[in-house]
Amino acid sequence: MADKSLRWGILGTGGIARVFTEDLLRLDGHEVAAVGSRSPGTAGAFAERHGIARAHGSYADLAADPDVDVVYIATPHPMHAEPARLCLEAGRAVLVEKPLTTTAAGAERLAALARERDVFAMEAMWTRFSPLVRRLHSLVGEGAIGEVTAVYADFSIAPPFDPEHRLWSAELAGGALLDLGCYVLSIAWPLLGAPSTVQATAATAPTGVDANTGVLLGYDSGAVALLHCGLMGESPHTATIVGTKGRIELGAPFYRPTSMTLTRSGGEAETFTAELAGHGYTYQAEEVARCLRLGLTESPLLPLDETVAVLRVIDEISGSFTK
Ligand SMILES: NC(=O)c1ccc[n+]([C@@H]2O[C@H](COP(=O)([O-])OP(=O)(O)OC[C@H]3O[C@@H](n4cnc5c(N)ncnc54)[C@H](OP(=O)(O)O)[C@@H]3O)[C@@H](O)[C@H]2O)c1
Repeated sequence: MADKSLRWGILGTGGIARVFTEDLLRLDGHEVAAVGSRSPGTAGAFAERHGIARAHGSYADLAADPDVDVVYIATPHPMHAEPARLCLEAGRAVLVEKPLTTTAAGAERLAALARERDVFAMEAMWTRFSPLVRRLHSLVGEGAIGEVTAVYADFSIAPPFDPEHRLWSAELAGGALLDLGCYVLSIAWPLLGAPSTVQATAATAPTGVDANTGVLLGYDSGAVALLHCGLMGESPHTATIVGTKGRIELGAPFYRPTSMTLTRSGGEAETFTAELAGHGYTYQAEEVARCLRLGLTESPLLPLDETVAVLRVIDEISGSFTK
């Protein structure tokens, strides 16, 4: 693995599969070796469009491809676990779209399988690997804003209502929380860890999925997180981290930031900027490559236990408004 390109397989040929493939094709040391689809025709068309050598007409065939090192799983949420299982059982590393699975129990099963097989697995929570988000973590770690007392983050969009679309469909585990809530929770998590209290409220769509969701998390330290995700209107898509000695604001969109402002108490605002490589998904690909080169089976920046723990909070939030 040390000197050769990382050979990716793309599983599923929808919107994000296309965008991530475009980012992989920009990177040195990465090769998109194969694609797998539920249908041979779709696999072939995707392969032709992106110049991919092998097109598999089933997910199982892609999982079994011996010339693939890692499979990127880009199916709708409820269809993450089964192809991930196929890949792990075939000894193939996996990068699985967010949310890893639809429940913490499902994520625990997948994590257990990856560990039992000693194969790399990571959730594609790409924001975590953005340069400015990593800078945010180091600034907070160095005490630039003192103790974190609050995180505010929002991710609400306004897609047209379409009961068949995965965002609105209950069958496809739609709703704001699983699709967008995982981002706001993942901004708060590395800064505050596990909350001690979880409160939430949500408006539901006619399909029954959550469409406008507010979350209030409390922490033993006295900190709070105020998080909003929704499908009923465009929010600013910003995140603010408040501390005892200042605050940091991630500019929009916070999940793919290109600017960040640090204001130390009584000081001038300092602005940090970063150019994004491609669509912003290259950083997670590089993290996968780094881990595989080092022989790691999990990313120290996003271990499976953390993904499971975030999903536990998601379970608790959705449990609180589906009662
Ligand atoms: N990281 C990000 O920024 C980001 C952005 C968007 C989405 N996502 C995540 O990526 C996943 C896919 O989202 P997407 O927007 O790419 O979805 P999409 O455009 O609907 O594509 C999903 C693909 O999954 C496959 N699939 C397998 N079973 C399916 C089923 N029952 N119904 C529909 N498609 C099925 C299909 O590929 P084949 O027909 O080729 O098998 C389809 O093209 C979601 O989990 C989402 O959370 C992440």
